[in-house]
Amino acid sequence: MAYFEWADDLVIDNGPIDRDHRHLVDLVNELHTATTQGCGQEVVAKILNSLVQYTAEHLRMEEQEMAAVHFPHLERHKIGHLKFTESLRDLQQKYDAGSITVASQLSTVLRDWLSLHIRRSDKELLTFMKKSGKK
Ligand SMILES: [Fe+2]
Ligand SMILES: [Fe+2]
Repeated sequence: MAYFEWADDLVIDNGPIDRDHRHLVDLVNELHTATTQGCGQEVVAKILNSLVQYTAEHLRMEEQEMAAVHFPHLERHKIGHLKFTESLRDLQQKYDAGSITVASQLSTVLRDWLSLHIRRSDKELLTFMKKSGKK
């Protein structure tokens, strides 16, 4: 069983958003394997870097998709994305500075945020699409 399992209740659009989310889940699993198997800082930093970049691209794309369908909670949603981007950057800086505690927390923090954000916040897009007959 994977550390972060994909589940049906994570499905949002059966499209680009889900594809990104699945890829992010894979990256979190990769990161978890790397940090728990004691991979070197170089390996972990590389995965973390991909995660930071991919997350930024995903959040931008998701906001565009939301704007395209006139999702009414976009502004609030953007604030959530911004806060997460900041804490992710903060974690990355701490990790780069050599914090061992951060290394072991990385995958947990990312998994918890992603699963909660998808299930609670991104899910609002699905609810909206269904209500407005766009889905
Ligand atoms: Fe998302
Ligand atoms: Fe989101």
